[in-house]
Amino acid sequence: MNTSARRILITNALPYANGPIHIGHLVGYIQADIWVRFQRMCGHEVHYVCADDTHGTPIMLRAESEGITPEALIDRVHGEHVRDFRDFQVCFDNFHSTHSAETRSHCEAIYAELNKAGLIVKRDVEQFYDPVKQMFLPDRYIRGECPKCHARDQYGDSCEVCGTTYAPTDLINPYSSVSGATPERRSSEHYFFALSSPQCIEFLQQWTRSGTLQSEAANKMAEWFGAGLQDWDISRDAPYFGFPIPGTDGAKYFYVWLDAPIGYIGSFENYCAREGVNFDEFWRAGHNTELHHFIGKDILYFHALFWPAMLEYSGYRTPSQLAVNGFLTVNGEKMSKSRGTFITAESYIKLGLNPEWLRYYFAVKSNGTMEDVDLNFDDFIARVNSDLVGKFVNIASRCAGFIERNFDGRVQNPELWRQDDVLRDIRARANDIAGWYDTRDFARALRAVMECADALNRLVDAEKPWELVKQEGTTERLHSVCSRALEGFRLLALYLKPVLPATAQAVEELLGLSPMTWADVDKHLSPEQRIVRFKHLMTRVDARQTTALVEANLATLAKPTAAAANAGSQGADAKVVKPKQKTNTESAGEHISIDDFMRVDLRVALVKSAELVDGSDKLLRLVVDAGGEERQIFAGIRQHYAPEQLVGRNVVIVANLAPRKMRFGVSEGMVLAAGDGEGLFVLGVDQGASPGMRAR
Ligand code: MSP
Ligand code: ZN
Repeated sequence: MNTSARRILITNALPYANGPIHIGHLVGYIQADIWVRFQRMCGHEVHYVCADDTHGTPIMLRAESEGITPEALIDRVHGEHVRDFRDFQVCFDNFHSTHSAETRSHCEAIYAELNKAGLIVKRDVEQFYDPVKQMFLPDRYIRGECPKCHARDQYGDSCEVCGTTYAPTDLINPYSSVSGATPERRSSEHYFFALSSPQCIEFLQQWTRSGTLQSEAANKMAEWFGAGLQDWDISRDAPYFGFPIPGTDGAKYFYVWLDAPIGYIGSFENYCAREGVNFDEFWRAGHNTELHHFIGKDILYFHALFWPAMLEYSGYRTPSQLAVNGFLTVNGEKMSKSRGTFITAESYIKLGLNPEWLRYYFAVKSNGTMEDVDLNFDDFIARVNSDLVGKFVNIASRCAGFIERNFDGRVQNPELWRQDDVLRDIRARANDIAGWYDTRDFARALRAVMECADALNRLVDAEKPWELVKQEGTTERLHSVCSRALEGFRLLALYLKPVLPATAQAVEELLGLSPMTWADVDKHLSPEQRIVRFKHLMTRVDARQTTALVEANLATLAKPTAAAANAGSQGADAKVVKPKQKTNTESAGEHISIDDFMRVDLRVALVKSAELVDGSDKLLRLVVDAGGEERQIFAGIRQHYAPEQLVGRNVVIVANLAPRKMRFGVSEGMVLAAGDGEGLFVLGVDQGASPGMRAR
């Protein structure tokens, strides 16, 4: 470990200002926060900044659809984000906005320098143009009919029904999801950053080798170099919400991804002005300071290619390290609104779950690589309850009360127990644990901490203080074991402090300690301090709480709130306008007779079992009771339902559909569901209906 004081600036990716913070985001923020807290405990100088990423088409359109200005939208979301981060104890020194004077001035300065260096080139680009809205549209605002399976209302890049990928120009009858108009192809002049220039390529290759990247990230870079670097389009035509490009009379704006990382600089400058920190020491070369960016793997490209090159050629320092996190999955699958696993930070807090449970769980699952992180609720409950409550807190619950009641709250003279083997071993692990924190292998650090907790619990089990207290002549022994256990507990709380700041603080109060630093490993409890009344440090998670969490997030789907409706990706549409000429209600003139309808045998069926189908990511295999007869049905709902959500439910099936032979077996019917591409909802039946009843 580095023992001289380091000077470190840490940033987290800037969340988009058009949606709420969700548990996927929290993976990267919690990882960074743990690292920040650890470095601070080691006595290093640490500055930790972030901001909202406020520009771009989605935010502009979103504000418009809410009938407010983009400024009003980003102000509101800023407040929500600040609240969510505070609730999860993500301790930014500054949470600013890219829509700020500081960011704008650095953005213009960087652009001017790149221009001077001859790295800005201009070229015509053809793009979709919405003639009604009178604006160029990003591809994701173009929808249309799938060229392969003819499903309607598909996005411009791939079909959600058949999975084919294509270019937006391949869509049949494309339309703008903003106005419904048929888009045109129009050409306009765009500004590019010359990433493909030999000097940029040479610089980036050397930067990649400088040890700033995880091995998986370095491999990705090699792949990108192999494919050849392209110039980067950094301009967008008005109307756009962002910073105008100087010298274009308001006709052109900087693309949101140009000013987004400059928001790191803007936020830091804003903080320096307030706190009197020297800006140049962290953003100009040659000052022996470090710059670490914590980001998710989906935005590596921007941070590993464009960003360092931009900085290099505009007179700023380049990053010391990119700390890239993998993506969150929930119960093994992508977060999904229709499954209720698109869990907002706000809902987690509102339902009374402890943020430190999630911090601990994410830490246990973080090993410093770009691997995805899975939140499995059973595992979550087991980890929190067995590690944190059962092993860690348990030590204090078993011993603190005896010290308080029987020994006036004072530990035994440390000379009598300080050299205890168990304590020596626990102290001896401090350097390894610190090393793992430093390399962000939190999983390993926490494994070691839990081994220490096991050793302490074995000590308490062997000595049995609850029996010693009842026996004659064992007072000293009782005093000794409780003192040792509490000293060990102090060390564990110190090791866990970066992950569990609130619990560590409660332990500091309990034991009468000043805020613990890493150097306190070598101290020990003393009879001078009084142990105050033991208060409950952490409760257990109950499975009902995680179930309620999923249900609460299903509910926001049914009744979308302004913030939740649009959660998550930058691709979130403000609202989707269907083309005028074809609507979604397919009454379309021709009626059917009641006899026609009666030919469809709709029946209530009870789902007896449901399972994943090997080799298909769309299908679930259901066995249903259709009224005395069992049927096997393959339903294309795997992306939207977990098997266990269906078992025991009554659904509606088409019972007289011709059996269909599929690759996986014969499907004997069809389950009815409503969907619109955003979600899929299996139709249910009111209470009291029984399998086999006909629907008419
Ligand atoms: N605004 C950009 C970042 C600009 S940085 C100059 C952005 N915003 S975001 O809101 O979509 O994501 C913020 C961070 O959360 C990113 O690091 C992103 O990778 C991360 N994640 C978003 N969804 C995630 C998961 N499901 N799982 C893990 N990280 C996720 O990207
Ligand atoms: Zn298709």
